[in-house]
Amino acid sequence: MTLNILIHVLRCFAISIAFLYSCYSNQMAKEKNADTTIASKIDALLPLMTLEEKIGQMTQVRHFNDIIEEEVATRYVGSIIHTEGSTPGTTALEWQLKFKRLQEIALSTRLGIPLLFGVDAVHGQNTFDGATIFPHNIGLGASGNAELVKKVAAITALESKATGFNWVFSPCVAIPYNEKWGRVYEAFSESTELTTKLTKASIEGHQGKFSDSPIVMATAKHFIGDGSTDYGQEGGETSLSLEEVKEYLLPPYKAAIEMGVGSVMTSFNTLNGISMHAHKDHITGTLKNSLKFDGIVVSDWKGYSKYGENNIVDAGIDMVMAVDGDLEMFQKGLKKAVKSGEVSMDRIDDAVRRILRQKYRLGLFESPFPDPELIDEIGSDKHRVVARQAVRESLVLLKNEKNILPLEKNLAKIVVVGEHADSAGLQSGGWTIDWQGADRDYKGATTILEGVKKLARGEVIYDPHATNIQDDADVALIFIGEKPYAEFFGDVGHEVSDFELTLTESHQGYIDAYEKKGVNTVVILLSGRPLVSTKQIEQSDAFVAAWLPGSEGDGIAEVLFGDYNFKGKLPHSWPKSIGDYKGKYGPNFWDDSIEPLFPFGFGLQYN
Ligand code: BGC
Repeated sequence: MTLNILIHVLRCFAISIAFLYSCYSNQMAKEKNADTTIASKIDALLPLMTLEEKIGQMTQVRHFNDIIEEEVATRYVGSIIHTEGSTPGTTALEWQLKFKRLQEIALSTRLGIPLLFGVDAVHGQNTFDGATIFPHNIGLGASGNAELVKKVAAITALESKATGFNWVFSPCVAIPYNEKWGRVYEAFSESTELTTKLTKASIEGHQGKFSDSPIVMATAKHFIGDGSTDYGQEGGETSLSLEEVKEYLLPPYKAAIEMGVGSVMTSFNTLNGISMHAHKDHITGTLKNSLKFDGIVVSDWKGYSKYGENNIVDAGIDMVMAVDGDLEMFQKGLKKAVKSGEVSMDRIDDAVRRILRQKYRLGLFESPFPDPELIDEIGSDKHRVVARQAVRESLVLLKNEKNILPLEKNLAKIVVVGEHADSAGLQSGGWTIDWQGADRDYKGATTILEGVKKLARGEVIYDPHATNIQDDADVALIFIGEKPYAEFFGDVGHEVSDFELTLTESHQGYIDAYEKKGVNTVVILLSGRPLVSTKQIEQSDAFVAAWLPGSEGDGIAEVLFGDYNFKGKLPHSWPKSIGDYKGKYGPNFWDDSIEPLFPFGFGLQYN
């Protein structure tokens, strides 16, 4: 290279760096200006507010049961939550109109402060029948693909917005150490590093540039220690040291805050005996003071009555899910506590300031209503294409003997076995349409069996319960797995001795029945966590961990038939035996003497 060329190259490089730096500093300056403007708006608004109005802003309730519509005004409600239970209607327009009406009531109050509408959209807008449903986070963890996670989050945000929301309670950034926990699938991985990488992507996808034109506000949850309780008990005791919490559990929160996450939800568990809802050292100390989190700390369900009433506000919680009968006691109780000095006015002002800040950042004062033009986005083909890609990339191939996979499309006869093969509900897990999920189909979803039928050119027979054995089939695709569950319903016992993370007898029977007849078997496990399946893996010719893929079941068929290769890698190490759980889990994590059946990161591919 001549000297001239070298100088030219260096000059171009310097110009690009200068350009990128100026874009970056312009953006920073813009964000700073926006925040300064917001701060002065809050400075003007806050002194006008009465104590009742401030406590009202700190209140979150459901749109049914907890209030009648008019109470949005009389109780100065700050936020509405939609989760399980009655829906605002069947069509997206009905949902939008319901939330528009509530927003109008809020805007008609003296100070006209708009409402935040929050939803548990944890794998797509999963509360709306007809939305695109993505693999649960454990599957996205298996994909390890940050770009994909960003797209998934952006679509979830858009479909949530299209149904009237400006806030989602996602992502769950737990680090589950114990597969007995019923919420393992809500988290990306047992690896801090992988979780941190995907958390960043998820926040960016959900929120876009939050200070510019946010899609919705995201929530990093549940702060902190939710996935590492002793014996995996939901809401149990996390007995990790402060150093361990900092080293293993805090990095995703740090990353989320760096990405500008709008809210953080506190957790049901205790940490070294202290309820996380009342853990002032962590909420105010770590989160707000050390990590400089300037968004909203929101309690979890009925946090006020369950975890120490005014203590939780004093500890740093800004907004309270005052649901299921808590509304009156929260508003009255907090008012009394402020009057008596138990909770300081500064603490109340800090909470309200944070809530107003996010409402301004979200642009709700200028643009408070849902946009009917977004409705066509819900469950659109282009969103389903991304969901299908996520399904494909989440699949982990654990065994492939005799290169039985990929399947030839022109096999004369394929038998598909197992009720999980033909149920959108079973393939999607908890938090799908209903809180606990369901075994029924829902709108717009494609089952795995439908996917197989689309691609196979020969005969496809469905034998859901292995009662109509097809001993002349070229291959049996056997689908086994867990039934849907959510939260503590998914816990499998809180004592070392008292759990079973194994397959059901009937599912074992499906494999035995086809193995006995000498039919080649491909076993596909649909589950929210690794299950002890050593025997079944030995028995089968090929074994796939498919997690909980969501609405696009045909993504599985596309990989089984070799249109795409396997890409997924285990986001958790895979236990060999129940004995491993005894050693690995319980209060002593990280027992290095245990060898898993497959290590974290394992996953085969087609040659
Ligand atoms: C769960 C949260 C959820 C909240 C609101 C709680 O029971 O722990 O993850 O966001 O309910 O539905």
